Amino acid sequence: MTHIISIRDLDRAEIDDLMDNARKIQSHHFSESSLKGKILGLLFFEPSTRTRMSFEAAMARLGGSSLTMGSVEASSITKGETLADTIRVVSGYVDAIILRHPKEGAARLASEFASVPVINAGDGAGQHPSQTLLDLYTIRQSMKIDKLNVGLLGDLRYGRTAHSLAHALSLYNATIHTISPKGLELPGTLVDELREGGTEVIDHENIIDVVKDLDVLYVTRIQRERFPDSSSYFKVASSYRITPELLAGVKDSLIVLHPLPRLDEIDPRVDSLPYAKYFEQSNNGIPVRMAMLEKVMK
Ligand code: NCD
Repeated sequence: MTHIISIRDLDRAEIDDLMDNARKIQSHHFSESSLKGKILGLLFFEPSTRTRMSFEAAMARLGGSSLTMGSVEASSITKGETLADTIRVVSGYVDAIILRHPKEGAARLASEFASVPVINAGDGAGQHPSQTLLDLYTIRQSMKIDKLNVGLLGDLRYGRTAHSLAHALSLYNATIHTISPKGLELPGTLVDELREGGTEVIDHENIIDVVKDLDVLYVTRIQRERFPDSSSYFKVASSYRITPELLAGVKDSLIVLHPLPRLDEIDPRVDSLPYAKYFEQSNNGIPVRMAMLEKVMK
């Protein structure tokens, strides 16, 4: 049984394979009855638009159906049921589980109690592997993923998409440039792991210092919901913003990505520039998640 909990669960060959399959799917080479008769269970303990809807759409396009737990308030969680018990029970109803949970490690724990594959759709400030696969896939649509200079901007402490992506990029010989407000740096353990694996991680004070060298700029939202209090959030809120002016003089081939939702970290005037790939990126969630569902359920 294949669980996808962390991007570390996949090696480079498996990641390349998933992206190759996603590309075939995107060019309409897939069977509409590939997962006919299968049921996908969606357990979302945190808000989601893209991840939940694109997994559901991906399942529907492969001929399967989805079952959603619904809101936490409407489930037995409010009666005090443990995650382990919920997972044991739901495992009996469905063929795979997509789990999003506010606690880091929740998806790993769930996989220990599940009798069907579990895909982590975000565990607190931990990992978000399906997002990373579609991020890489979007990069690959524009350039070869090899020895790229990638800027990770924003909340790198709590941003799980940045954690997963940094690890994945290390498999492709990237140089990682980090730019974050004070206190929101990439966790030291992750930086150590990347450096020990031979990846260069360079910290910058300000995006302007590095933007002209980048091949990819990955912008993230400040994860307000993970802050201990609102005053610490307001100290860093709106402290960076990508504007057309800031992008003057960047490489022609630069792409700007964002896992979305965005708040004010990308000026809407950037949307019409050729660098902006974030809406294509979110569309890529469908073929990439179709490839993932086939991998774990077929
Ligand atoms: C991200 C997440 O949930 O981590 N959203 C997503 O899945 N595209 C990023 C975020 O919420 O900032």
